Amino acid sequence: ASKTIGLIPADGIGREVIPAAKQVLEALAPSGKPFSFIELDAGFEHFQKTGTALPQETVERLKGECDGALFGAVSSPSHRVAGYSSPIVALRKHLDLYANVRPVASVPGSTGAGSRPVDMLIIRENTECLYIKQERIEADTSPEASPGDQIAWADRRISTRASRRCGRMAFKMAVARHAATAAASGLSNVPSPKLTVVHKSNVLSITDGVWRETVKAVQAEDPSFAAVKVEEQLVDSMVYRMFREPEAFDVVVAPNLYGDILSDGAAALVGSLGLVPSANVGDHFAVGEPVHGSAPDIAGQDKANPIAAIRSAALLLENMGMAQEAQRIYQAVNAVLLEGKLLTPDLGGKATTTEVTDAVCRRL
Ligand code: NAI
Ligand code: MG
Repeated sequence: ASKTIGLIPADGIGREVIPAAKQVLEALAPSGKPFSFIELDAGFEHFQKTGTALPQETVERLKGECDGALFGAVSSPSHRVAGYSSPIVALRKHLDLYANVRPVASVPGSTGAGSRPVDMLIIRENTECLYIKQERIEADTSPEASPGDQIAWADRRISTRASRRCGRMAFKMAVARHAATAAASGLSNVPSPKLTVVHKSNVLSITDGVWRETVKAVQAEDPSFAAVKVEEQLVDSMVYRMFREPEAFDVVVAPNLYGDILSDGAAALVGSLGLVPSANVGDHFAVGEPVHGSAPDIAGQDKANPIAAIRSAALLLENMGMAQEAQRIYQAVNAVLLEGKLLTPDLGGKATTTEVTDAVCRRL
């Protein structure tokens, strides 16, 4: 049967790049079975109009009618707004999308912004760590405090359950990525898959200790995981090494906050946030989502790079069991980037969102 994809453009350039991704999926038309699409509301602008950032109907139709979804970006107020909380965070919870998967790769044959080729997959735990938002503020009653001094606290949760399933996803993806690379290259001596476990357990020995030990223990669960070479890296030196020798990394798995920071940083290695896709993945559903935000500085000007969203659509297809269709999209995008004639301003070009999208569709 043809697949149904929910489209949630949400705010800012989400309203430009999600239609671009839709256009590419329409041009792809997998073996005569076109996708159907359902447009759904969410976001800060929707909140301002209606008082809800994530309507019940959006969640119900995603669960009941869709095989996967694409999310644009949300604008978040920098100060607390009564009644508002991020719809993408809520969606991850409602659909149990417990891992955020972010491939960061330079275009084959080029090295992007840096001088070295990058091809890594960052897997970020998506449900806990500091993102449980258990924050509070209290008066500072210590003897050194002045009147009015305050102390703010945040709890950090790392559970064995969440660490284990995220670890499992990471091992599975390391094995699958390796198999895909070997198949594509036709070589038998492709280096073994590598998994780097990121933590800071020299300081946070209990929370990050649970993360590290639980993720590493997953290797014993499945014979196919035995081939994966497991490494550990403290998050600070991870940043340093990632910029010095990005080619040293294959699959990287990290708790929520470290993973968030690492993956935005990694985007700098390939030239623009406008290139980097992600997917929120659970056992039964996936939501593709460009890594970038709503970019209010360029919204509504047909300037946004649609490639992050287009690649997110491909990543969604991969997670829906449509790897070949995903490959066709990646190749079309790479061809446009390599040709280098139609690039949006973030990549130093003058092309519009529409022109880049049309070029990708022509390549398909
Ligand atoms: P941003 O990612 O929206 O923009 C950062 C810079 O990158 C801006 O100069 C922007 O023009 C540029 N940029 C981003 N995507 C681009 C694209 N596709 N093509 C060309 N240039 C692009 O991050 P910023 O400015 O920190 O946040 C803006 C809003 O987005 C905030 O309200 C923030 O809370 C929200 N945000 C939402 C995210 C999400 O929905 N997952 C993630 C990050 C930020
Ligand atoms: Mg981020």
